[in-house]
Amino acid sequence: MHRLTRSQWLRALLLCSSLAAPVLAHAQALLSGNQFLTPQLQAMQQDADANPVTLWIEKGQTLWSNSCQSCHNTPESLRAAAAHHPRLVTREGSARLVNLEDQINLCRQRAGQSPKGVEDGDTLSLSALLHSVGKGQAIHVQAPADALGQQRWQAELAQGAQLYATRIGRLNLACVHCHDGKVGANLRAEVVSPGHPSGFPIYRLNWQNLGSIDRRLRACYSGVQATLPASGSPALRQLELYLKVRAEGMPLDGPSIRR
Ligand code: HEC
Ligand code: HEC
Repeated sequence: MHRLTRSQWLRALLLCSSLAAPVLAHAQALLSGNQFLTPQLQAMQQDADANPVTLWIEKGQTLWSNSCQSCHNTPESLRAAAAHHPRLVTREGSARLVNLEDQINLCRQRAGQSPKGVEDGDTLSLSALLHSVGKGQAIHVQAPADALGQQRWQAELAQGAQLYATRIGRLNLACVHCHDGKVGANLRAEVVSPGHPSGFPIYRLNWQNLGSIDRRLRACYSGVQATLPASGSPALRQLELYLKVRAEGMPLDGPSIRR
C-alpha cells in the first residue's frame, strides 16, 4: 500500500478540519511550522533561486569573513550555537538571558562595531547564516552549572511558562489557547501551528523581510490586540526559553519562509 509521508498525512488531516485540531494537538505536538506551509510556499522554500532567504545567508557569509572569522574560524565551528540559545549569562553579579541575535550583537561590539538591535539587517543575516549551518541540530537549552545560575534559570523558565498561559489583549487569549488548543485551525488565512521555535529566523511575505523570533512573538501580541513587549525585552526572552524547553529535541529547520 502507498504510505503517506508525514506532510501528505498532515494535509489530508487538515482537509477534514473538524478532525484536525484535536488529533494534531494530541499526536503531532512536535510538528514544525514548516509542515504547515502551503505547497506553493514549500516549493519556494526548496528552490534556492526563488527563496529570498538565500540572499540573506550570502550577506551573512560576507559579514562573517569581515568581522567574525578572526575569532571563530568558520560558521560551522558554531554549528551548535543556534540550538542552545537562549543561555543565561552572568556578568558582574547580574544574570540575563541572551539569545542568538543578542550574542551576535555582543560579538559585533567585540569586533569594534556599534551595537544594533536584534531586527537589524546585519544581525539577521548572521542569524540566518548560523541557523542554516545549525539545521538538523536538536534544540537543547540548559541551565548553567552553578547553583545560583540554576535557580535563576528556573525562575526565568517559570516566568516564560506563566506568560505562555496568561490571557492577554482585547481578545483575552493566551498563547496556549491557540498553539495548543487550536492547532490546525484556520485563522486569518493562516493555519495555526504548535508555535515551535525551530524555523527561525523567518522571511514573512507579509513583512517582505526577514524577522527574528521577537518580531513573530510581537505579531502574536498584536494579533490579540495586546500591548507589545519591546524587542529584546525580558518577557520575550523568557517566552523563547520556555518555547525551546517545550520543543526540546526538535531539529532546527530554519531559516524559513512564512506567509
Ligand atoms: C489568536 C491566536 C494566537 C495567539 C493567542 C498567539 N498566537 Fe502565535 N501564532 C498565531 C498564528 C496564526 C501564527 C502563524 C501560523 C503559525 O505558525 O501558527 C502564529 C505563529 C507563532 C509562532 C511561529 C511559528 C512558526 O513556525 O512560524 C510562534 C513561535 C508563536 N506564534 C508563539 C506564540 C506565543 C509565545 C504566544 C503568546 C505570547 C502566541 N504565539 C499567541 C496565532 C496566535
Ligand atoms: C574578538 C573575538 C570575537 C569576535 C571578533 C567575534 N566573537 Fe563571537 N565569541 C567570542 C567569544 C570569546 C565567545 C565566547 C562566549 C562569550 O564570552 O560571549 C563568543 C561566542 C559567540 C557565540 C556563542 C557560541 C556558543 O556556542 O554559544 C556566537 C553565536 C558568536 N560568538 C557569534 C559571533 C559572530 C556572528 C561574530 C561576528 C559578528 C563574532 N562572534 C565575532 C569572541 C569573538
